[in-house]
Amino acid sequence: MQTTDAATTETPESSINWAPDAPRGGRTVLNRILKENAAVPLFFAQTLISSLRDVGYNHTTSALCEHVDNAIEAGATEIRIFYRQSGKKGDYQVDAAVYDNGRGMDPNVLKVATSFGGSLTYNNRSGIGRFGMGMKTAALSMSPVMELYSWQEPGNIYSMILDVEAIGKDRSNAVNLPDPTLNTELRAELAELFTRPLGWPTDHKEQDLFATDAGDLAERLGSHGTIVYMPACDRLSSRKARTLGEHTISEMARIYRRAISGGLHLYVNNRRVEAFDPTYSMASARHTKALTNGMPTTSRLVLSRPIDIPVSENDTTRVSQIVAKVFALPIEEWSNLDRKTQKNDLRIFDGLTVSILRNDREVFAGPLPRLTTQHSVTNWYRVQIDFSGLLDEAFGVASNKQGVRMKDYVLDKIRAAIGSDITKLNDEIKRFHAEKASRIQPAKATASEQRANEVDQLHAKPLSTELTSEEQQQLDANLRGLAVTLKRDEETDEQAFERVKNSTYLIDFKHDEYWPFYHVDHKFGRIILTINTAHAFFDKLYNPLKELARKPAEEALEEGQAFDTKHVNEGPLVALELLLLSLARAQGVLGIRSDEAKRVFDQLRREWSETYRIQLTG
Ligand SMILES: Nc1ncnc2c1ncn2[C@@H]1O[C@H](COP(=O)(O)OP(=O)(O)OP(=O)(O)O)[C@@H](O)[C@H]1O
Ligand SMILES: [Mg+2]
Repeated sequence: MQTTDAATTETPESSINWAPDAPRGGRTVLNRILKENAAVPLFFAQTLISSLRDVGYNHTTSALCEHVDNAIEAGATEIRIFYRQSGKKGDYQVDAAVYDNGRGMDPNVLKVATSFGGSLTYNNRSGIGRFGMGMKTAALSMSPVMELYSWQEPGNIYSMILDVEAIGKDRSNAVNLPDPTLNTELRAELAELFTRPLGWPTDHKEQDLFATDAGDLAERLGSHGTIVYMPACDRLSSRKARTLGEHTISEMARIYRRAISGGLHLYVNNRRVEAFDPTYSMASARHTKALTNGMPTTSRLVLSRPIDIPVSENDTTRVSQIVAKVFALPIEEWSNLDRKTQKNDLRIFDGLTVSILRNDREVFAGPLPRLTTQHSVTNWYRVQIDFSGLLDEAFGVASNKQGVRMKDYVLDKIRAAIGSDITKLNDEIKRFHAEKASRIQPAKATASEQRANEVDQLHAKPLSTELTSEEQQQLDANLRGLAVTLKRDEETDEQAFERVKNSTYLIDFKHDEYWPFYHVDHKFGRIILTINTAHAFFDKLYNPLKELARKPAEEALEEGQAFDTKHVNEGPLVALELLLLSLARAQGVLGIRSDEAKRVFDQLRREWSETYRIQLTG
C-alpha cells in the first residue's frame, strides 16, 4: 500500500457534509476510504448513479428517443412505446416501456449494456449511439429503476435491473453488476401492457394491440427483441398519458420520419405513428392526406448543395460532406387554404424552418435566424441539413443528442454556400406576400373607398366639374382603359369597369423599390391612390394593420367558428387609408388649380417618403 504525507493525515468523519437523504452505502464507502486510506474507485457508483438521473433531457419524449435510437440500431422494424397511467385524479402514476423486435442482446452483452459506458458501438460515428450512456441515463431520468429484458431465442428472456436506491445502499467500494436473470415469460404487470388496451387513446378501437392474450404474446415476442421498462416514473414532463402520448407522437413522427418512411412500424400506446415531414418533400408523409385533389402535395426543391465541412476548425485537411437542401412551399396554392388546414394539418406556422439530421435521424427542428433571418417569410420555405456523426463536434452534438450547438465556422460555411439563395427566396416570398395582401375582394369598393365616396358631397371644394354627355361617352372609354390597369385578381374586365365607374376613389398597389410609398393620380374625375408594397411603410404599418384587422376573424376560426367578415375589425386600416385618400383628394383639388402646387406636392412626396424610409429601416 502506498503511503503519502497527505494520506497519513486522518480526515474526521464530521467533515463529510452529505445531505440526510444521500445514499447511505456511498457514505459508508467514503467514510471507510477516508479512514483506511483505501484505493479510491474512479467512480463512486452509489452517488454517481443518482447524479446521472439529472442528465438533462428537455422532455420525456427526448429521453425515450434514446431507446428508439437503440432499437433502430438493432435493426428493429417494429417499436412500441407505452405510457400507462393509473391511480386517481391528482395522484396519477405512470409507468413506461419501449419494446422493439430488433436483434436483442445475448446475456453477456446485456450485462455490459447495463453498465455506464458499456457500449458495443463506442465512438462509432456511423450509427446513432456512440457514448454508451443513452439507455441508462434516459431510463433513470424518468424512473429510479430500469428493468431491461432481451432475448435471442423464443421464451429465453434475460433481464437486468438497475435500481438507484438499491445501488445507493451498496456498501462495497466497487459495485459490480449481477448476472442476468433468465425468465420464461414476462412478469404479469409487463405482459398486461402488451395485451390490454391502455387508458389513452380513450377510444379503444384506435388501439392496435400487440397481442390478444398470454399465448399470443409469447408468439408475438418471437425469437428476438428487447424491452426497456421504467416502472413508477417519478420524473416526467406530465403525469397524464394523453399529454405524454400526444407529444411523443408529434415529435417522433418528425424525428424518425426517414425510418418510418423506410418501413419502421412505430406505435405509441398502440397507435401507429405516421411520418411528418417539416420540409414537405416526402410524398408519403402525413400532411399529404389533408390536401384535396388539385392541391400540390409536396414542396419544390430549390437547391441541393454538398458542402465540405472540416471536422475540426484547427485542421482543415479532414473534411466531411454535408448536404444542404432548400425547399419552397407551394405558397401560391397553400396560402389560399383555410387557416385550420394550414395550422393544424400542415403546421406551416410552427417555426420549423430548419431541420438538421444526423445519420438520418433528426436532431434539430426549429428556427435558425442566424441562417435565414427572422421574418414571417421563413414560414414558406424549409432548409434541411444532413450531416454524419463525424461532424458531431462541429455541430455540437451532446451525449443526450438533443439539439445542436453549431460552431461558428460551420454556420459560416453553410451561409457562404446557400446564404444568397436564401436571401433571394426571402425577397421572392416578401413580394408574393405584398402582392397577395394587396389583392382585395373583386368587383367591390373597399370599406375606405366606399366611405370616401359616401361623404364626397360634404366637402366644400368639389373634385371635378360636370361632364357633357359627349365627354361622358368619352369618359366611359377612358374608364375602361383605366379599369384594365386597375383590374384586381379574380376580377373580370366588366367587373373592373363597373367598380371603377361607380367609385370616385380607387386604391391600387404596386411593388417598386424606387418609388415613394404612395402615389396619387387625378384622372377622369377619379382619385387613384397607389400604395407601394416595396416601401417599408407597407411592411411596417399598412400590412400589420391589415393583419390586425383580420386577427379576430382568424381567432374565431381557430375556436372552430366559421370565418366571418363581421369579425374583421377594419377600423384602423380604414382610417389609415382615409388618411391617404384625403391627402390624395387635397392634392387633387389643389393641384388642379396650379401646376406649381402639383410640383411642390410631388417634391414633398418624394422627400417625405425617403425620410420616412430611413426612419423606418435605416
Ligand atoms: N434495443 C436494443 N437492442 C439491442 N441492443 C441494444 C438495445 N439497446 C441498447 N443496446 C445495446 O446496449 C448498448 C448500450 O446502449 P446505450 O444506449 O446505453 O449506449 P449507446 O447506444 O452505445 O451509446 P449512446 O450513449 O450514444 O446511446 C448499445 O451499444 C447496444 O449494444
Ligand atoms: Mg444508445
